[in-house]
Amino acid sequence: MNESSRPTFTYLGHSALRCDLPSGEVMLVDPWVSNPSCPEELREPGRIDAILITHGHFDHITDTVELAQRHKPRMVVANPEVCHWLGGKGVENLREMNTGGEIDVLGCRVTMTWAQHSSGIVDGDQMIYGGHPGGYVVELPGGFTFYHVGDTDVFSDLQLIGELHRPDLVFLPIGDNYTMGPRRAALACKLLQTPRVVPIHWGTFPILTGTPESFSTELHRLGVECEVIVLQPGEVY
Ligand code: NI
Ligand code: MN
Repeated sequence: MNESSRPTFTYLGHSALRCDLPSGEVMLVDPWVSNPSCPEELREPGRIDAILITHGHFDHITDTVELAQRHKPRMVVANPEVCHWLGGKGVENLREMNTGGEIDVLGCRVTMTWAQHSSGIVDGDQMIYGGHPGGYVVELPGGFTFYHVGDTDVFSDLQLIGELHRPDLVFLPIGDNYTMGPRRAALACKLLQTPRVVPIHWGTFPILTGTPESFSTELHRLGVECEVIVLQPGEVY
């Protein structure tokens, strides 16, 4: 399962993920490190080489400007609309892309995928158009492939993404209300045919009612054989 090239993942709570690559470089996805469940000592990453943003909602994009200014990552990747907004805030080394595009980020093959969601950016009292929401498939040089699905409902194209990329590990939202909940997330796993899944976007707020337990129950009910790796905020895999 390409384990030798597997990054070390640190779940920073909500949708925020830190990936320490075998090269020693650090890639962050949706770095809202000030989210209420992120452990204090993990809010300062120490080093950032690349940031991937799935969409413009505050619970994904917040802290990006500040972190980028402090750590000067070589690449900040997002859709064109989010990049435009970040550029206006002074973020440098932006790399815009759109769904279906595959680019090189820190030696990894990164594909932007579709998500069935929305992407408005809150800026003062305005809600700015944030383009299409997305997710990222990241294939490491050694072949290990992970997929951060972003915020989305279940959609049938997950089957295509699974077929194309064969992700070894998937970070999947299960919290309900703003994204798929446990029942739909179980079907997403079936479509993706992934051997392992880490639930994300749950427990941050009371309104996110989906739990890893109910997700596991739904997987069992559907007969989907997929290992659920439950990471509490701050836990490393
Ligand atoms: Ni969202
Ligand atoms: Mn969200």
